[in-house]
Amino acid sequence: MSDAVAVSLSVNGERIAARVSPRLHLADFLRDTLGLTGTHVGCEQGVCGACTVVVDGAPVRGCLMLAVQADGAAVETIEGLSASGAIADLQAAFVAVNALQCGFCTPGMLITARDLLLRKKNPDRASIRAHLSGNYCRCTGYQAIIDAVAMVARGEMAAISE
Ligand code: FES
Ligand code: FES
Repeated sequence: MSDAVAVSLSVNGERIAARVSPRLHLADFLRDTLGLTGTHVGCEQGVCGACTVVVDGAPVRGCLMLAVQADGAAVETIEGLSASGAIADLQAAFVAVNALQCGFCTPGMLITARDLLLRKKNPDRASIRAHLSGNYCRCTGYQAIIDAVAMVARGEMAAISE
């Protein structure tokens, strides 16, 4: 890889140093170089939201960002957020109300839903719909996803896990 560029970033709290093609997307870097295949790739055009990851605290479409643009950044993927327990309530709620079928959209949905819950206290269903509007699901019809996020927003999952 003669045109490779050195990058250094944090991924799920682990310092990663690598040499990457300047054209390599962050999503492909995470999946193919680091083996973090929970970041899904659907449209590769920034439309579906399946590739959503967190970069320096903000949800980002991994197919629209180059790996070299993440140099120096702190990246969190579904694997790290799941392992830390940061989305445990959301995961439990998704399971409780069958908010996933094939699961392809689910990592991106969970990450985007978490972002909403971090930013807004007690979002109503319209706010949940609006915040998740960039994450496409071909299976569920969205109702159960909204139900799951609303349950967490109301604090119901914390009550269930006690
Ligand atoms: Fe990135 Fe669809 S794969 S938005
Ligand atoms: Fe299949 Fe959402 S559960 S795309």
